[in-house]
Amino acid sequence: MRKKVIAGNWKMNLGVAESVALIDALSPLVADAGNVEIVVCPSPQALYPVGLKLSGSRIKLGAQNLYPVAKGAYTGEVSPTMIKEVGCTYCILGHSERREYFKESDEFVNAKIKSCIEHQITPIICVGESLAEREAGITFERVGTQVKGAFKDIPAEQAATLVIAYEPIWAIGTGKTATDEQAQEVHAFIRAELVKLYGAAVAGEIPILYGGSVKADNIDGLMAKPDIDGALVGGASLKADGFARIVKFEI
Ligand code: PGA
Repeated sequence: MRKKVIAGNWKMNLGVAESVALIDALSPLVADAGNVEIVVCPSPQALYPVGLKLSGSRIKLGAQNLYPVAKGAYTGEVSPTMIKEVGCTYCILGHSERREYFKESDEFVNAKIKSCIEHQITPIICVGESLAEREAGITFERVGTQVKGAFKDIPAEQAATLVIAYEPIWAIGTGKTATDEQAQEVHAFIRAELVKLYGAAVAGEIPILYGGSVKADNIDGLMAKPDIDGALVGGASLKADGFARIVKFEI
């Protein structure tokens, strides 16, 4: 049975003091949540203090990005060993904001995934189409290319440990969530692509999260869908009570 994962992507929104205040508020609210993996992804400077707060906690720590080399002359970048040292066991990769603003290609995302695997970090691999691509009827083509690119040369036993997040770009930060049916349709497509690549057993192990304006009042319907295994939450992860309700989804 694949795991359910609710991950908060705090993006570039909170300083150290704000991040620590949020984790202090969130921790008691989710202590009694059900069988779900809870992940928070602060910005780099807050990883260490938030990680200290999480020692012994059920909440897992994730980074929002990494550079796929352990060490070296890469000014401004953060390595997998560095995020691991401060307690990260997850890392968001290939977020649409990174693909768009920092021109990250499928090849680069694939290199980052391999680096995560090498360092025992679970990547949350983001894929998703733009509004123009959806309107042009090429959603499946676009998402299929991203999935195949992400999993290139990754063997089945490693693929089974990864996490995907389907995030339609038109739904991110817009308040315009995909309907439960629209999300399920693409999740089922991604699952079918994974079946083609790895067979049903491995494809059945890979959690596929939905992301894009997930909130306390739409999480339950999304989680009721058979191929939606969790959520990657941006804006609504910045408030402890709202995020706690998402973590405690009811189906
Ligand atoms: P949002 O962001 O929940 O604010 O739409 C989701 C994401 O970008 O991961």
